[in-house]
Parts: sequence; structure tokens; C-alpha cells
Amino acid sequence: LALAAGLPLSVLAQQKKIVLGFSQIGAESEWRTANTESIKQAAKDAGIELKFSDAQQKQENQIKAIRSFIAQKVDVIAFSPVVESGWGTVLREAKAAKIPVILTDRAVNEKDDSLWVTFMGSDFLEEGRKAGRWLVDNVKGGEVNIVELQGTVGSAPAIDRKKGFEEVIKGKPQYKIVRSQTGDFTRAKGKEVMQAFLKADPKKINVLYAHNDDMAIGAIQAIEEAGLKPGQDIKIVSIDAVKGAFEAMMAGKLNVSVECSPLLGPQLMKAVQDVVAGKTVPKRIVTEETVFPMESAAKEFPKRKY
Ligand code: AHR
Repeated sequence: LALAAGLPLSVLAQQKKIVLGFSQIGAESEWRTANTESIKQAAKDAGIELKFSDAQQKQENQIKAIRSFIAQKVDVIAFSPVVESGWGTVLREAKAAKIPVILTDRAVNEKDDSLWVTFMGSDFLEEGRKAGRWLVDNVKGGEVNIVELQGTVGSAPAIDRKKGFEEVIKGKPQYKIVRSQTGDFTRAKGKEVMQAFLKADPKKINVLYAHNDDMAIGAIQAIEEAGLKPGQDIKIVSIDAVKGAFEAMMAGKLNVSVECSPLLGPQLMKAVQDVVAGKTVPKRIVTEETVFPMESAAKEFPKRKY
């Protein structure tokens, strides 16, 4: 009747509100904050009731939240898994309760892909390759000693960004990863670990590869405090392309940021509505992204949404 009356979809949704339970990883980075905002805003715009839970970086909290969504009989569960493994049991519980699950941003390492309806987010392996390609195309001549700040141990982006980058420098002996450690995707840890790297090898570091911008920004502080020029003495390659990275690029302190978009909210709500309506959604939805070298930063900055 409502359709016949030509009512918009959002009005229809309000008549029988869809309930979505979403378990977010935490608030470790500028990227994550933008991702949370995008999801909250998109739920509002779509008239979807959002039960939002912040896991503070802990898998056990995400599992608890998912179990609570199952107990509350929400219509759809979505989550961004902090690490790749250890989800089988809780995903089987959701399946047994006939609640569809959507993975956003990060993947899980489970063989049975009937445990989720779709996985939407970036291609982290390709992001790692893009970072590697920028490096080999732009930093040449002599030995290139690289230090790597990895993301959260066991997380899909940390695993894939490392792998993709290594794939590109493999067989090019001048590019050497001399140190690699986790900075847990945070500024504070990025700074702390970079300080340790600099203390261990103050002269030998030519390049920093950071798995996200926040760690790169933290590391920039450490490099400056050590009396070196970030972006010049040490070239810096990172991932996300958040506003903070653009500011660093415009200041000449960060050389390139590979884009990883956190703006998954509208796509997620559309998938939730489709799943509830019984429509088929693609099993994998890949976000389209690009690369921003520092030379493009000033022009692009006014257009950035996160
Ligand atoms: O999963 C995406 C990654 O998680 C982003 O690159 C990082 O900034 C975030 O914390």
C-alpha cells in the first residue's frame, strides 16, 4: 500500500524499522573515527535502527557484542573484525539463529564462506603493492634501507599490506626491510616504535613504510625530535589518505599516501536493506581507491571528506 502511495524507501523503513547490530573495532585511528561517523550517519539517513558497540580493540568484546546482537534478535549483524582468525564459533551461532552477517572493512580467515553474506571493503593486498610500486618508481639508486611499522598483529590489513609490499620489492636486492614491528595502527605506538628504530640505526634508515597514516604521523614526530627531516632524510610511504596525511604531505613531511576509504556507511546500509528484502548481494564488494603523492596534496585537500 505504501509503495502504491509512492512513499520513499526511508519512510517505508521507518514503518518497520530494520535493526542492525554493528560491532566496531575501536577508535584507534583517524580512519576508524571517519568510518564510525559514516556508519552512524548512513544508518540515520536510511532510517535503520543501529545498535553500535565499540570493542576497544579486543576480539573478546566483539564476540560478546555479536552474541548480544543474536540474543536481541537483530535483523542483520555487521562487524569489522579486529583480527582475521577465531570467528568460526560465533559466526556459526549467528547462522544457526538465521541472522545474516555482513563483514565490513576487514576479512575473516574462515573456510566456510556461507557464514557471511558479503564482505565489503578495500583490497589491502593491492594497497601494499601500490605502496611498493611508488617506492621502486620514486626512490632509486644505491641501497634503500626500509623500516616498517605494521598494523595490529593478526589483522587483515597488517598481513596483506606487508605481503603486497614485499611482493613488489622481491627480487630487487637494493630494497631491504631492515626492521619491522607493530605500531598497532596508533599515533602513540607509531612514534614509540620509530624512536626505537632510530635509536638502533640512526643513519641507516632511508625509508619508512607505515601501514597507516596515524603511525606515519606519530613517526614523523619521532624523526623530527631526532633532528632529521621527514620526507627528505627519510622518505615516508603510508596508507589511508586521511586529512592528517594531506596536512603532512603539504608540509613536505610525508611523501605519499595510498588511499583506503572508510566511507563504507551508505554501501553497508544498502546491503542491509537488500539482504532484508531477500535480494542477492555480491559476495565481495571492493572499494575503488587511488594513490596520492605529496605533489597532488594541495590540489586534492579541499575535496577530502575524511
Ligand atoms: O582496516 C583499515 C585500517 O584500520 C586502516 O588503515 C587503519 O587506519 C585502521 O585503523
